Order: sequence, then structure tokens, then C-alpha cells
Amino acid sequence: MTVHFIGAGPGAADLITVRGRELLARCPVCLYAGSLVPGALLAHCPPGARIVNTAPLSLDEIVAEMAAAHARGQDVARLHSGDLSVWSAMGEQLRRLRALGIDYSLTPGVPAFAAAAAALQAELTLPGLCQSVVLTRTPGRASAMPEGERLAAFAATGAVLAIHLSIHVAQQVQDELLPHYGADCPAAIVWRASWPDETIVRSTVGQLAQAVASHMERTALILVGRSLQAEHFAESRLYAADYDRRYRPVGDAPRFAHDAQALDTATDRPRR
Ligand SMILES: C[S@@+](CC[C@H](N)C(=O)[O-])C[C@H]1O[C@@H](n2cnc3c(N)ncnc32)[C@H](O)[C@@H]1O
Repeated sequence: MTVHFIGAGPGAADLITVRGRELLARCPVCLYAGSLVPGALLAHCPPGARIVNTAPLSLDEIVAEMAAAHARGQDVARLHSGDLSVWSAMGEQLRRLRALGIDYSLTPGVPAFAAAAAALQAELTLPGLCQSVVLTRTPGRASAMPEGERLAAFAATGAVLAIHLSIHVAQQVQDELLPHYGADCPAAIVWRASWPDETIVRSTVGQLAQAVASHMERTALILVGRSLQAEHFAESRLYAADYDRRYRPVGDAPRFAHDAQALDTATDRPRR
């Protein structure tokens, strides 16, 4: 028996991975975080599956469901929104399962920040402009921020920030970022990325708080960074015609000459 933790993706039911969907289809028990996981995904559960919304449950109650399934010898699909590696509260469940000697597996999912970037039709890391993306949040009622992880500290790097769980404190976010990014730095709010009612607002750091519409509660990401609206950036050297590289040797003495056997990326066969 195994508890399969599955990243459900950001909202659209077809943004779960094939592996996640197949696991879901063969587990007789499904525990899902109902606050963010789309109900449409549950249609993949097998007929007669025990399907439990864990939003109103405590950690003890969730683990009791897993332990009961373990006693029955039934696999469990444990669905969390987005990807499992950030703000999923999975770590504490894994620790409990280790203590109980219950096996588990992890299947990643599409994180909200990636869905928001897709909604904005943006590459967040552009040559010469931004090469780092910080996934962060502001302190919440249930979660303090460790010293050193304040928004201003990340802002000082100039990286692209993907700020989660913070739409309700947009003014505070704006105030903290302003001295570092400047009022004209592009910012965007993506509410319910990939859901049918997805809403995108493009703005600037100076206008961020004003840009938040009244319906944009909870499931929204704030993105800030110079790459969000950029047209003037260098092209990547990787695909420059004169860039000599392992898979595309250039010139009379290519650097990777000994790699003539390198795989052709299209066929997986050695190049000729
Ligand atoms: C508890 S965290 C879950 C993050 C998730 N595990 C992930 O991989 O993105 C919830 C926060 O993620 C962001 N979020 C989750 N889904 C989103 C979506 N579809 N659109 C915009 N933001 C989303 C919001 O900031 C929300 O407050």
C-alpha cells in the first residue's frame, strides 16, 4: 500500500500530469485539498472510490484516513494544488507517514507561478535582464517568515518575484518593493491562472495596490520584474548562428570536435 502525493496543477483539469492522472485513476481512495484542487479532476477517480475533501480536516484526521486505507490495503491518491514542493503542507504528512511505516510516492505538478507566467505569455528569465525567479510570500496568520526572507531582502537582488499568498496585502508589497524596483517596474496580478475565470492585470510597482480588483481574493499571484514587459533584451547566445556548442559544432576547429558522436536531439541516434 502506498500514499501517492500528486501535484494537481494550478486549476485547469488538463494541467495535471499523465502520471498523476493515471495514479488517480487506480487509487480506491482520494484525499484532495478542496480549497484549490479543481473538482473536475475527481472524475478520474475509479467508480466507488472513497473521495474525501481534506479542507475541513486537521492533520491528525488526514493521517487517520491514510492509516485506515493502509489497514485496508488500499492505495491513496493525495492531491495538492500546483506542485508539491511549495506551500503544500506535504512535509508534515510525509514525516507522519515515515513514523507509521507507510510508503509514499511523489508526482510533481505544474506550479501556480508557471501557469501565471503562461497566462502573461512571458519568459521570466530574459538574457541580461533577469536570471533568477524567487518564489516567496509575505507573513501570514499561520506562517511567520524566517528572519532574512523578508520581501525587501529579495527585492534588493532585482530578481523576478513571484509573490504568493499576499494579494490581501498588496499595498504593503508595493511599499516594500518600491525603493528597490522603482515605480515604473512592470508588475502583474494573475488571479486563478488557468481557471475559466482567470483574470490578468498588468501594472507597475507604483500602481500595484490600485490594480487589485475587488474580486481578486486569495488565489492570486503577484509577479514583479523587468522581464514582464520587456521587448529590449539580448537574444540567447545558445541559438546564435556562430555559437559553437556540443550539439551544433561551428567553424574549422569546433570546441566539441570529439563529440561528433553526440546524439541527434531529434532522433536520439548518433550524429553523422
Ligand atoms: C497554498 S499556496 C499553493 C501553491 C502551490 N502548491 C503551487 O505549486 O503553486 C496557494 C497560493 O498559490 C497561489 N496560487 C495557487 N493557484 C493559483 C492560480 N491558479 N492562480 C494564481 N495563483 C495561484 C496563490 O498565491 C495562492 O494564495
